Order: sequence, then C-alpha cells, then structure tokens
Amino acid sequence: MIRLCAVDELAEGQSRGFEIDNEKLFAVRKDGQVYAYRNRCPHRGIALEWLPDQFLDHSASLIQCATHGALFLIDSGECVAGPCAGKTLDALPCAETPDGIWITP
Ligand code: FES
Repeated sequence: MIRLCAVDELAEGQSRGFEIDNEKLFAVRKDGQVYAYRNRCPHRGIALEWLPDQFLDHSASLIQCATHGALFLIDSGECVAGPCAGKTLDALPCAETPDGIWITP
C-alpha cells in the first residue's frame, strides 16, 4: 500500500492529483468515500486535469477530461458523455485509515 496523503488533505467534493513512480493518478472524495483512478483519459491516454488538482466539472459531481470534455462518474469511472462514452477510467483500489489515504498500485 502507498500513502497518498492525510485524510484531511482531500476534502468532500475535492479532487487531488499525485505522481507515484512516474505514474499519474488522482483521487476524489464524494459522499465521504474516496475514489482513485489513473490520470489517463481512455480517449487519448492523456492527463485529465485543466489546472493542478482540478479533475471535476463545475458542479463537482462528475470527473471531466479538460481536453475534449468527456465526463465520468466519480464512483465508477464510467464515461457518460464525450468521445470515450462507455469506456472507463482505470480504478485503483484505495482505502482510508486514520493515518491517511492509501492505494494499492
Ligand atoms: S482526451 Fe479526454 S476526452 Fe479527449
């Protein structure tokens, strides 16, 4: 398990990017739950964010690819609109303990 950050470094409705062993990934907290995905749009394989740590659309209810606007469900990574509709982001198993947020790469 690899520690991403402290519990309070990922607030409700926020996203955050990380780089571990040259692999880009990001985490989102929604309804208290943390979800982690590889930072790679299934459409072109490029990073999703438009600014550091900004992975969500304006309503903070969907993950958005900044380049062509694909939208993904936060809890499953499924693309629901855009050029890669029907594809999914690569989910990374993650866990939260009092010591932090962890992923299994
Ligand atoms: S690279 Fe993400 S929608 Fe085009």
